Amino acid sequence: MPHQPALFEAPSPLLQRVERVCRHTLNSEKATATEATIQKEITSILESLSQTPPKELAQSAGSLIPPLFDTISQHHQYYERDNAPLISDSLYDQLRGLYESLADLLMKEGITVPALPVGFTADSTFAPVTHKKPMLSLDNGFNEDDIAKFLERVRKFLGLASHDHVDILCEPKIDGLSFSATFLNGKFVQGATRGDGEVGEDITANLKHVVSFPHHLNTKTPSIPHRLEVRGEVYMSHHDFLLLNQRQEREGKDPFANPRNAAAGSLRQLDSAVTAKRQLRYFVYAVGDYEGISFTTQSDMILQLQQAGFCVNPLNRLCTSLEEMLAFYQDLGEQRSALDYDIDGLVYKVNRLDLQARLGHSTRAPRFAIAHKFPAEQAQTILEDIIVQVGRTGVLTPVAVLKPITVGGVVVSRATLHNQDEINRKDVRIGDTVTIQRAGDVIPQVVRVDLHKRPVGTTHFHLPKHCPICHAEAIREEGEAATRCSGGISCPAQLLEQLRHFVSRDAFDIEGLGEKQITAFFEAGLIHSPADIFTLQQRDTTSETPLRTWEGWGEKSADNLFKAIQDRTTIKLHRFMYALGIRFVGEKGAKLIARHYGSFNRWFEAMQELVHGQGADDLLSIDGIGPKVVDSLTLFFKNKKHISLIAQLGALLTIEDENQIQGNSPLAGKTIVLTGTLTTMTRQEAKARAEALGAKVASAVSAKTDFVVAGSEAGSKLTKAQELGVKVLTEDEWVDVVNS
Ligand code: IVH
Repeated sequence: MPHQPALFEAPSPLLQRVERVCRHTLNSEKATATEATIQKEITSILESLSQTPPKELAQSAGSLIPPLFDTISQHHQYYERDNAPLISDSLYDQLRGLYESLADLLMKEGITVPALPVGFTADSTFAPVTHKKPMLSLDNGFNEDDIAKFLERVRKFLGLASHDHVDILCEPKIDGLSFSATFLNGKFVQGATRGDGEVGEDITANLKHVVSFPHHLNTKTPSIPHRLEVRGEVYMSHHDFLLLNQRQEREGKDPFANPRNAAAGSLRQLDSAVTAKRQLRYFVYAVGDYEGISFTTQSDMILQLQQAGFCVNPLNRLCTSLEEMLAFYQDLGEQRSALDYDIDGLVYKVNRLDLQARLGHSTRAPRFAIAHKFPAEQAQTILEDIIVQVGRTGVLTPVAVLKPITVGGVVVSRATLHNQDEINRKDVRIGDTVTIQRAGDVIPQVVRVDLHKRPVGTTHFHLPKHCPICHAEAIREEGEAATRCSGGISCPAQLLEQLRHFVSRDAFDIEGLGEKQITAFFEAGLIHSPADIFTLQQRDTTSETPLRTWEGWGEKSADNLFKAIQDRTTIKLHRFMYALGIRFVGEKGAKLIARHYGSFNRWFEAMQELVHGQGADDLLSIDGIGPKVVDSLTLFFKNKKHISLIAQLGALLTIEDENQIQGNSPLAGKTIVLTGTLTTMTRQEAKARAEALGAKVASAVSAKTDFVVAGSEAGSKLTKAQELGVKVLTEDEWVDVVNS
């Protein structure tokens, strides 16, 4: 085999290489290596492992286990628990493969390593169901050699000669979510997810809504078995997946990453009415616990299950030799993109059930079956254009506009190019012929450029210096991969998100005007800018469709909203400042700045001076305010639209002065901790008063604490203060301090 070039510059010890691979798989935003490169690196690591003498290996391989175990466990959680994988299935499988290889090598040296997680622990919101027989996983094979070895193992185990035929049923491996369903005397009584293989979640109600799922076994079956537990896979078709994501987008919800995640999210719904809307489908491919029915072979079982009324995969094929199996693999690989559902490989199963029983299983997987995985689907097409999208947080994302092409059954016309670094690294240009990959991700990736097909006259692509939507400056911070629009609240692409922030709890916090309502007003064209909130009532009086006539609204609720808005026309300076959504100016920062300047006018003037290069030192003198905040404020106030918005708001609102920190306040610059119950004021009030007097209120006592205010029933914080010799104030002493 030719030597694979290392992914990262200098040749490094194995551990460093493994650690880098781990880091790169977890680092989604700033990834500097594509999956293809990481996969190559893993192959190369495996190669190095196979060339290292066993003794040496036993010494070094152990150190590779912890970083790999942690990384795989994290990806496992993203995939299984969150339904939001960070990496493609094939890279995930490869990482696990590397771990298993290391585990095998170490095992030979008598060292055992922790088993990788499988499935996910049952969610407490669903009732647990203990499987009568464990729901196992499958071993994976990636190439012909792996499959040949599988057949060899089977023959050897059964004591067969190499010329003895073993019938194998080859089934498409459906990329969905496995389930178990129990029928008692023909009636469906319980459905469960796989969970961790031992205990799953009760999804009986949801399974009933899966398309064509039988609630009763077909009465035409020769005899209804007393008990029958079937196992199979729930999936979502490409067609339904696209419709679902379109709906998600319309409703302002996040799209699902791929049909498998969509199926998982839809099946594990507490409200089965949601599952019913999602058009899930299924295939059965195995039985668990059963009584009153018998099967001779896997293919006979599939046939009987079909007769009983279950959907079974029509593509299953019985093969009698390795050559036939591999030909079918090839065949199905070619058909794959025309299927309306995702398959990620084939499953080969020894057909005779008596042989299956003899072969049995290891703790994790049966010995009678193996999955033969497909590589990630790729296709070549022309990159016709690069457009720039602006996300809700202002990130500019370059997107490749492709000549439409079918990859994995889905027509792809767009692919993400992530950021400027990715474009530079791959040297992607408009007009290029590119290879794209869809590896279970909804957003396809551009893998590489075919330089031989590059037309003459192409040029490098650079992200624009200004936001394509609002034309504000686009800035790339040092050390960040993303380029952002600095338009903030005045950029339509960011507006809705900013409006939501404007009314959020720590900002204007208007009762009855939460995310849902602000989105509805935005979509109806009633609110385009934060200032519009405060003219809503006035405009409503002359509107042809006043709010009280809207669905879900009435006279009273509309009046309440207007009153709540009116109540907030007087607002503290720090809340106002925070509501503007200036980058790096969070609630704490806003408080510090507000207290420093004291009034809206003083602050506003100072900010305008900042734009002219003056006053940065004054801002920086505030404890807790650094250059990042100063730069961000400068950028914000450079934007004329922001100035006009603030002026508009200033005319509509009364912005209250903030208590400026008095140099002679006994609390100025002090760090205090409140503990126990206070009788004269609530904890919240005490905190607000302390902060108003310039104190920082911390939650834990440390040597840095200046004093602790101890109300009644003060516990461990008081003890800690005494231990550390921190000054303790009684409630009376505290009241004296704040009133002094
Ligand atoms: S048999 C006893 N057959 O693949 C063996 N599994 O990677 C149990 N899968 O957990 C599995 N299609 O969710 C089997 N035709 C098929 C399958 C299939 C998809 C899934 C199943 C399993 C996973 C293992």
